[in-house]
Amino acid sequence: MPTCLMSWGARSALDVGCGTGVLGHMLLERGYRVVGVEPAGAMIERARRVPGADRARWVHGYLEDALPVKVDAVTMTANTAMVFADDDQWAGVLQRCRAALDVGGHLVFEARIREVEAWRSWGEKGLPHQFDAGHYGQVSSSTTIDEVTHRAQVDLVTFTNIDELSSGEQIRAVSTLAFRSRSSIEAALGVAGFDVSEVRDAPDRPGRQWVFVARAI
Ligand SMILES: C[S@@+](CC[C@H](N)C(=O)[O-])C[C@H]1O[C@@H](n2cnc3c(N)ncnc32)[C@H](O)[C@@H]1O
Repeated sequence: MPTCLMSWGARSALDVGCGTGVLGHMLLERGYRVVGVEPAGAMIERARRVPGADRARWVHGYLEDALPVKVDAVTMTANTAMVFADDDQWAGVLQRCRAALDVGGHLVFEARIREVEAWRSWGEKGLPHQFDAGHYGQVSSSTTIDEVTHRAQVDLVTFTNIDELSSGEQIRAVSTLAFRSRSSIEAALGVAGFDVSEVRDAPDRPGRQWVFVARAI
């Protein structure tokens, strides 16, 4: 992603749903002016604790809380663009991304390829998977698909994730992700004032995820 932004000559970026600030910190290291916005307090606090974090603006909240702002590029990495399940909410987010850019600025985000139906393999056989969460130790994580709603241009997938920490504490989160058709994403970008310059295959999930690159017009 940083290489991609550099190839456009971008020097500043707004990362929407920045999580723990992984991308923001990579950009800071490359001399970017960075704004990260994230509604989950624990995640943005982690972003703020990384050495050098004070060179960025970290906003605890939603995209509207970071506005007005002008940057050369807006990013939404991992599943962030898919959390906007409601069509009006999604349209509003794209409009706000556009407001953060001048003509020629870039919006880049990832989205799962709808037809792959990745959610079908989530929580397969109901078995938890284990991972090392550093400070928190070994975590056992399990996912259950609660509901899938098929609409003409989108599949809405609601799932419950339960992480069990080594202390025995359980963290339960219910989420809904929107698996939109490529044509509906392109149409929504057009309405918001973008021209889709490219739809790339994601290097980390080839054949399973698109990377949309849109230019503000
Ligand atoms: C899959 S995580 C990706 C985090 C980060 N972009 C990364 O790649 O590591 C999705 C992020 O979107 C955030 N999110 C959820 N609802 C949001 C909203 N309405 N506006 C902005 N971000 C949101 C979540 O809190 C979470 O940090």
